[in-house]
Amino acid sequence: MKKRSGKKIVKYFFLGLVLVFIIIQFIRIDKTNPKVDKNKDLISIYKPNKEIENILRTSCYDCHSFETVYPWYSNVAPVSWMLKDHIDEGREELNFSKWGAYSEKKANHKLRECTEEVEEKHMPLDSYLITHDDADLSSEQRKKLVEWFESLMTGGDGGHDE
Ligand code: HEC
Repeated sequence: MKKRSGKKIVKYFFLGLVLVFIIIQFIRIDKTNPKVDKNKDLISIYKPNKEIENILRTSCYDCHSFETVYPWYSNVAPVSWMLKDHIDEGREELNFSKWGAYSEKKANHKLRECTEEVEEKHMPLDSYLITHDDADLSSEQRKKLVEWFESLMTGGDGGHDE
């Protein structure tokens, strides 16, 4: 019986991996941003100061709006799939481009969640910060952002209506 050389098996294994990597590159993600209706956009509606606007655009808007800026690695599977998942899920939970369509109750509830997510440092997502240094927020920035979200709440119950 002929003995298979281990070296050969390793070689085929890696060739297989390379082949799979090449093939999955053909499964592209959809990167078209839906059109933004400025009348419904959070920033256009509330016109925060430049500092808050910059924080929102740099740290939240890639996943929570229709104004996503896709980085170069959004062309590389399987990273692109993970990225697309975050964007789809992020928009589904909270979409600043559709803010104007939220009911007052829903808006208050989302604002409350925003303050919580930011205070607890759940947002922006850790995986996002690996490639977006500038999206990382200082405690000072977190505080200002939370105060801004709080200032938008209506009804005096701070969104505790559910
Ligand atoms: C890399 C993409 C990404 C970025 C950047 C990001 N988020 Fe998120 N966000 C998500 C995803 C995905 C979810 C849903 C899953 C989860 O909660 O972890 C989510 C959930 C949330 C929720 C919960 C919504 C709900 O109804 O439960 C809030 C609030 C939120 N994000 C606020 C923010 C704010 C504010 C920022 C900016 C400071 C931000 N996010 C930045 C991806 C992102």
